[in-house]
Amino acid sequence: MSEITSSHNNSEFQIIERPEPIVRADAVAHVVFARRDVDTMARFLQDFGFRPLENPSRETRYFRGYGTLPFCVEVIPSSEDDFIGFALVAKDANDLETLAKYDGLQVESCDGPGGGMRVRFTDPDGRRVDLIHGFSPVPALTTRDQLLPVNSPLQARRVNATVRTPVQPSPVFRIGHVVLQSPNFDVTVDWYMRRFGFIPTDVQAVDDGRPALGFFRLDRGAEPADHHSLAVLAGPSKTMLHVSTETLDIDALGQGQQFLRARGWTHFWGIGRHQLGSQVFDYWKDPVGDEWEHYSDGDLMTAEYPTGYHKLRRGGLWEWGDDIPDSMRPPEDIPENAPPEVKALIQALLVPPRPWLR
Ligand SMILES: [Fe+2]
Repeated sequence: MSEITSSHNNSEFQIIERPEPIVRADAVAHVVFARRDVDTMARFLQDFGFRPLENPSRETRYFRGYGTLPFCVEVIPSSEDDFIGFALVAKDANDLETLAKYDGLQVESCDGPGGGMRVRFTDPDGRRVDLIHGFSPVPALTTRDQLLPVNSPLQARRVNATVRTPVQPSPVFRIGHVVLQSPNFDVTVDWYMRRFGFIPTDVQAVDDGRPALGFFRLDRGAEPADHHSLAVLAGPSKTMLHVSTETLDIDALGQGQQFLRARGWTHFWGIGRHQLGSQVFDYWKDPVGDEWEHYSDGDLMTAEYPTGYHKLRRGGLWEWGDDIPDSMRPPEDIPENAPPEVKALIQALLVPPRPWLR
């Protein structure tokens, strides 16, 4: 059963026009947070599956994943808790020059682990976005190196072997995607598509056809890209909704949940499977309440995959698993003074997701 009505270039939806990109970014590199209590944030990130890097000369903390990026998370001590922004990897050193020239910016040296060069942008809502290139990759960390063979009624793949997941953090390989809320949806998505080549993979629209939630992937040509590296929700304020990280497989995801529960962190939503992107997900809150997602088994698309347009419904957020947490639910009574776009968003999310749910 699916709540989604799907179509390609159907006239009931307002199409997102993709501008000609100036460059095409290749990957998400890292995310940057400001935190009042860096030590507690560091403890959360390690329990979540990142590994701290030694940085004795500076107060800023860096955390790497199990993949080859020099770091995935930067935490800057601050008088306030905030999401500063994120970095994308350029395919080519010339891309930095090209995009710097377009916006009248400078190419400068990166000051984090791995070095390299960067151009630092500010998106239309004021977030920092770095495009980086030429950093030194690091050797991948060893983890269980094979997916666990899965038995089914149709095939015996694991014989005389058991499944035993250790009570350890889920190994996190990299940042998968960042989800932003923007009060300037059209301007913001155009800004990201134009500069970095993002392609709308799936778009959910409110009842009058206006896009409300867009999932954007990187343009890697014939190479597969994650279903989305960036998602943008049209909302009343500028917010970071969550950061998602890829772990090894579904057992590693369950192992991570067990470990985070044992360490007393706040669980938010999951385990379930998303609809758009198909990831098996598990969401956790960091010490200040920002959401972090573990995922595995997400969809991969090449550049030619067509954009899907769908009606935004709460039921379209997940395929199986628990209903969204109460704090994600819209108010039952739509505020009289809410702007029309917020009313439309609330109305869409109030549609019962399944016949047996309210
Ligand atoms: Fe996500």
